[in-house]
Amino acid sequence: MLTVDQLHQLLHFRYATKAFDPSKQVSTEEQNALLESLQLSPSSFGMQLWKFFVVEDRSVREQLKSESWGQGQVTDASMYVVLAAETNIDEARIDKWLTQLAKVQGAPIEKLAPYKEMLSGFVNNLTPEQQLEWTKKQVYIALGQLMTSAALLEIDTCPLEGINPVAYDEILGLKEKGYTTAVACAIGYRSADDHHANTPKARFPLSEVIETI
Ligand SMILES: Cc1cc2nc3c(=O)[nH]c(=O)nc-3n(C[C@H](O)[C@H](O)[C@H](O)COP(=O)(O)O)c2cc1C
Repeated sequence: MLTVDQLHQLLHFRYATKAFDPSKQVSTEEQNALLESLQLSPSSFGMQLWKFFVVEDRSVREQLKSESWGQGQVTDASMYVVLAAETNIDEARIDKWLTQLAKVQGAPIEKLAPYKEMLSGFVNNLTPEQQLEWTKKQVYIALGQLMTSAALLEIDTCPLEGINPVAYDEILGLKEKGYTTAVACAIGYRSADDHHANTPKARFPLSEVIETI
């Protein structure tokens, strides 16, 4: 467990890294730990309506960079992850989740019939636009967990929303796979000359952002 002091240091260690050192790589062990942080992110009903695309191919990274306001993090960071929301939440997808749940719980899937009815009712009550909004929100929770996990390992990150999600979907072929880009995250080690590392955090005071009722 962390002490309060360690948590404070961790929260201040993390910043949106503008310049990564391209020569520094995240170890395989740490990469796997970060991917597990995505896998274990909480999701609504536990349905995990997402997929995380780890882009290793350098030429694909170059293409993504040109659809990301030319931001250097896309190509310079050790890892680049595109966090995508699932687009087709149909009966089969609900069954896929319930099959997994029944397997892990060691219970017959028939026992989950009332749960299935509730889930279907909830999902079918949403318009496609509302479904997408719902799934994207959950992808952002995974983004938060990823960045905090990285900071715990003293690994730097930069969330990227300054991207063209339509172009990303096309470059990565996500539409055919049933996903759409929500946000991306560059992961690696800060460059020694990233002056943003020393920029004081411009946060509003706690008294302004927290209200006790
Ligand atoms: C959803 C989201 C999208 C962001 N997109 C970008 C981006 O495209 N490029 C970038 O350099 N920073 C991006 N940022 C970083 C923010 O600018 C940064 O978090 C904010 O200024 C606070 O600074 P700090 O994270 O260093 O404390 C993004 C942050 C969030 C949460």
